[in-house]
Amino acid sequence: MGAGSVLLAMFLAEGWVLWMAVSGWRGAKHTRLVWGLHGFAFLIGAAAGWAYFVEPNWIEVNTIQIQTDKITKPGLRIVHFSDTHCDVKKRNEDKLVRIINSLEPDVVVFTGDSLNDTRAIGNFKEMLSKIKAKLGKFAVKGNFESSLWSEMDLFGSTGFELLDGRAVRVTGEDGQVLNVLGVDCMRSSSIYSVRQKLLAGDSNEFTVLLDHWPDDIEMFAGQVDLYLAGHTHGGQVAMPFYGAIITFSKFGKKYEAGRYDVNGTTLYVNRGIGMEGAKAPRIRFMARPEITVFDVSR
Ligand SMILES: [Fe+2]
Repeated sequence: MGAGSVLLAMFLAEGWVLWMAVSGWRGAKHTRLVWGLHGFAFLIGAAAGWAYFVEPNWIEVNTIQIQTDKITKPGLRIVHFSDTHCDVKKRNEDKLVRIINSLEPDVVVFTGDSLNDTRAIGNFKEMLSKIKAKLGKFAVKGNFESSLWSEMDLFGSTGFELLDGRAVRVTGEDGQVLNVLGVDCMRSSSIYSVRQKLLAGDSNEFTVLLDHWPDDIEMFAGQVDLYLAGHTHGGQVAMPFYGAIITFSKFGKKYEAGRYDVNGTTLYVNRGIGMEGAKAPRIRFMARPEITVFDVSR
């Protein structure tokens, strides 16, 4: 019996006990403390069931407007997703393709942590191949693939261009210009290469940096217009009034999820699509999977 079945059984059993109490079942003579414990167990079961069955499959689309003089009209739409953590069994792959294609992006970017299991590479590449973008699709590796599967061909034949210390200049139909740079977060040579390119670049052109994690933001703040990252999963499990419990970022909760303005650079930390791999429970709570849309315009 899987963890999900245990949670469901616990939730249903506690729900039944509480229902009997509410409906005046005379056999249920408990103290207030025991009833309180039943109620607490019911709530825990409900939250766990939500975290296991509902929230991991419920993608949220967030739209961020960015106004800048660096982009000519009518602007550009960038769609960002991250941390797909594909498992052998598909979860959000087909839904993600449908949502992104319906948004009609000019540029699509992915910021790493592609797989939980190398056997899921077919799912991952099929998903990437089906995503459509008018001007280009770009990716960087996450710490997972960079350290565990550095030689694996994750992006070949998918239409995604891997940016490892490289910069690409994208030009829109109406002359809009977007510079996209990407680093491999685990390779200092990749970060050095991007820093050199930024120094040599034109600061009057809108520049986006892709980096798997937010940990390099304070190094690049003020040098790029938009810094897109993932990695934290928004904690994957968050608490009311507190937010992420664990972020695996060197900054802790400082850049746990969402939008931040850091010395003139807009940092956005996407909560990702999938969930942490290995033996970690596949749950999300108050940290829905996310696709982010950036409408960059004058
Ligand atoms: Fe991740």
